[in-house]
Amino acid sequence: MFNILVTGGAGYVGSHTCLKLLEEGFKVIVLDNLANSSIEALNRVQILANRSLIFIHGDIRDSSCLDRIFKTHQIDAVIHFAGLKAVGESQQIPLEYFDNNISGSLNLFNAMQRASVYNLVFSSSATVYGELHKSPLNETMCTGTTTNNYGYTKLIVEQLLEKLSQSDPRWSIALLRYFNPVGAHPSGLIGENPRGIPNNLMPYVTQVAIGAREKLSIFGQDYETIDGTGVRDYIHVMDLANAHLCALQNRINRSGCRAWNIGTGRGASVLQVIKAFKDINGVDVKYEFAPRRDGDIAICYADNQRAVSELGWIPQYGLEEMLRDSWNWQKQNPNGFNKG
Ligand code: NAD
Ligand code: UD1
Repeated sequence: MFNILVTGGAGYVGSHTCLKLLEEGFKVIVLDNLANSSIEALNRVQILANRSLIFIHGDIRDSSCLDRIFKTHQIDAVIHFAGLKAVGESQQIPLEYFDNNISGSLNLFNAMQRASVYNLVFSSSATVYGELHKSPLNETMCTGTTTNNYGYTKLIVEQLLEKLSQSDPRWSIALLRYFNPVGAHPSGLIGENPRGIPNNLMPYVTQVAIGAREKLSIFGQDYETIDGTGVRDYIHVMDLANAHLCALQNRINRSGCRAWNIGTGRGASVLQVIKAFKDINGVDVKYEFAPRRDGDIAICYADNQRAVSELGWIPQYGLEEMLRDSWNWQKQNPNGFNKG
């Protein structure tokens, strides 16, 4: 059995991945400082899996904590989710982002090396492609013109890992470039739990649908797209979770650093999402048009052939299931993981 250290495992993508790992028989050790998550997510993961995991409340920037974990548990691989992810916030408090996402990652890689653990799956983002390229985006396209500090931290960590693996062939590194994660476990027990006003489309849509917010502002109606609104490649979080298992199973102990796009390869516009949400869930989402958001691009979707052919990863869920499961989670948990 493999022992996997999951940093940031209490978060949105991390909790769904922990569930998959437990279901597949892995031993799971989570390290999370709960800066953007709740322990309740992991309680529910263990209920769903009917298996337990080990939770350590700690920070990836704490070297002694990391050394203790590697010493106590025979870790075979690390899945590294921990970090801050709010684009707007990253412009206001850049040093926090550099510290958590870049210094924190370096601290983790150093601890891995001290413990002779060289298998790593890193949560990257389609944001590393910047604004230069026309979709579908593929992994051979150059990266390097990110539009915000959050995206910059992902790019820097990718580049550090590439250099590291070039210098030291013991490393086996998977960079998973997520497109737009949405949805929730079909049980509705775990899902995305944004703090404050959501930045991303899907949690905003479900909060309007449930009456927690008055209406959605659609950022821009004059893009060169099918209906003028932005097009994105939404990917169900269960498919995303599965991509981490595919990366572990197919890449572990293979020397080098390689990137894979994790998206469906299909785009949907904001208006298409709203219409589909109504058709599937029978709930109206009130909206108004607003100016474009800074840093947004018109169209972004993946060429996912490399992940399909090399990782054996095939997305199973379409937009319908994404919208159904997002709504199911929101309805069952109007306050997220907070009770009352
Ligand atoms: P999330 O905020 O739900 O999860 C991140 C987790 O990391 C949280 O549980 C948080 O408490 C923890 N954490 C943050 N800083 C930490 C630290 N210093 N030490 C220990 N734990 C820490 O975010 P998510 O949506 O699950 O994203 C997971 C990863 O995927 C992140 O690295 C994110 O940047 C990346 N990503 C997310 C998206 C997305 O849209 N959700 C898209 C692309 C990439
Ligand atoms: C955003 C981030 C990106 C990050 C990704 C996943 C920006 C500029 N980009 O991407 O770095 O990797 O989230 O976390 O913030 N929309 C609205 N109204 C809303 C919210 C969104 O119309 O209230 C539109 C957007 O303009 C876009 C689409 O919905 O066309 C999706 O937006 P969002 O969910 O924020 O994702 P991205 O913009 O792709």
